[in-house]
Amino acid sequence: MTSPTGSFVVVANRLPVDRGDDNAWRTSPGGLVTALEPVLRQHEGVWIGWPGGHLQGYGPFEVQGLSVLPIHISDEEVAYYYDGMSNGTLWPLYHDLVAKPSFRREWWDAYVRVNRKFASAAAESAEQNGVAWIQDYQLQLVPAMLRELRPDLRIGFFLHIPFPPMELFLQLPWRDEILKGLLGADIVGFQRPNGASNFARLVRHRLGHKTHRDRIFVGEREVAARSYPISIDFKQLETLARSVEVQTRAKEIRAELGNPRHVLLGVDRLDYTKGIRQRLRAFGELIVDGRVDLEDVAFVQVASPSRERVGQYQEVRDDIERWVGRINGDLGRIGHPPIHYLHSSYPREEMAALYRAADIMVVTPLADGMNLVAKEFVTCRYDNTGALLLSEFAGAADELKQAFLVNPHDINGLKDSMWRSMQTSPRELSRRMRGMRKQVRDHDIDAWAEAFLRDLAGAELAVDTDARADADANADADEL
Ligand code: F6P
Repeated sequence: MTSPTGSFVVVANRLPVDRGDDNAWRTSPGGLVTALEPVLRQHEGVWIGWPGGHLQGYGPFEVQGLSVLPIHISDEEVAYYYDGMSNGTLWPLYHDLVAKPSFRREWWDAYVRVNRKFASAAAESAEQNGVAWIQDYQLQLVPAMLRELRPDLRIGFFLHIPFPPMELFLQLPWRDEILKGLLGADIVGFQRPNGASNFARLVRHRLGHKTHRDRIFVGEREVAARSYPISIDFKQLETLARSVEVQTRAKEIRAELGNPRHVLLGVDRLDYTKGIRQRLRAFGELIVDGRVDLEDVAFVQVASPSRERVGQYQEVRDDIERWVGRINGDLGRIGHPPIHYLHSSYPREEMAALYRAADIMVVTPLADGMNLVAKEFVTCRYDNTGALLLSEFAGAADELKQAFLVNPHDINGLKDSMWRSMQTSPRELSRRMRGMRKQVRDHDIDAWAEAFLRDLAGAELAVDTDARADADANADADEL
């Protein structure tokens, strides 16, 4: 079968779908797929990605109206490029060193090789003068590789995770190669404005390029570094949350929990950046302190399995399961454990029912590009009920200002906010929820994609000679 072609090509580490052991199609994990799938459907493009476990050996195929091109990666490449360089080096480095990154040369070599595979596939799939949109930290070299192969394309790159401050990024032995890789794009998009400014500062400092506001001058080309906070398909999820099936299931869940006064909910990939231990500790201490009665509460923690071959992920799982065991063992009674821990992934219908069943959504990452779970919860609360506890260190905190904002490192602060959210009047909760829902409704995934693709289409990228002159004049002042 020949490779599919299209004028719009998404290049992401993972395909949007995988096949389970039962052979049924499933949506791949993570916020990236949640956000991008509707965009690709709308543009009728081609999605290039790694098929993960169950699709090895597949050629190009169509599923649920999506045109998909799997990239095959050997077992050693998976170990070095995905487990190693992507999730053992870049992930912890970009998340404020919450865990210690390892720097291994053979991981880097595999990263370069696999990025080249993705770039070659994109070069073959994109039609003349088409658009290629490259996603995330696993593929930071693809923009420059693709530009070399296909200078006719408009190339966009979006980083879904935080981009670190200069002081941390400089530790990376391949820092210049990554910066040059990203500069192959016409637009480098970040979740938050500080990601864009960290990047601009680094390319000035390391590569000597001049910059002016969000523009970077790379020879004859201009590259824009801007923030585009990602979002979700508000309409689709809200419709699902309003369905009779979801409402019935939500009631069932509450009943299964014993209809307590307050259902607290956490939903995360099982990752050390998510602050799961901190939130469970705070919750357990509220019961121990007697501020909250066990009879009145239930905490449901969904932790979907993630990157299970990476040592740090095995450690975080052990750690969290120890805490769950300790808290349930110390505080629970028969038929009533304080924490309901689910190490599993669930379909969207079940997630919507959980969001509807909860009273308090607890989102406490130590560092997070955006955190779409927070936006999903808000979207499902169409009756303006419920409280959102949200870490200041999630990108979503820039937008969801009416949440109970918390510093997840501060356990006492976390306890106070949890307690306060239980005491807050329905009227005040409704005021807060209305504000957050408006924000997500007005800034949904379509608005995000439109803003990025409009800019990429070039309107604002025509070489601006005034800006270049300003950059020359300000070069000294711009220096560190
Ligand atoms: O959003 C960050 C991210 O790494 C995405 O790139 C990815 O789709 C998601 O999390 C899930 O991670 P993984 O593909 O490693 O399971």
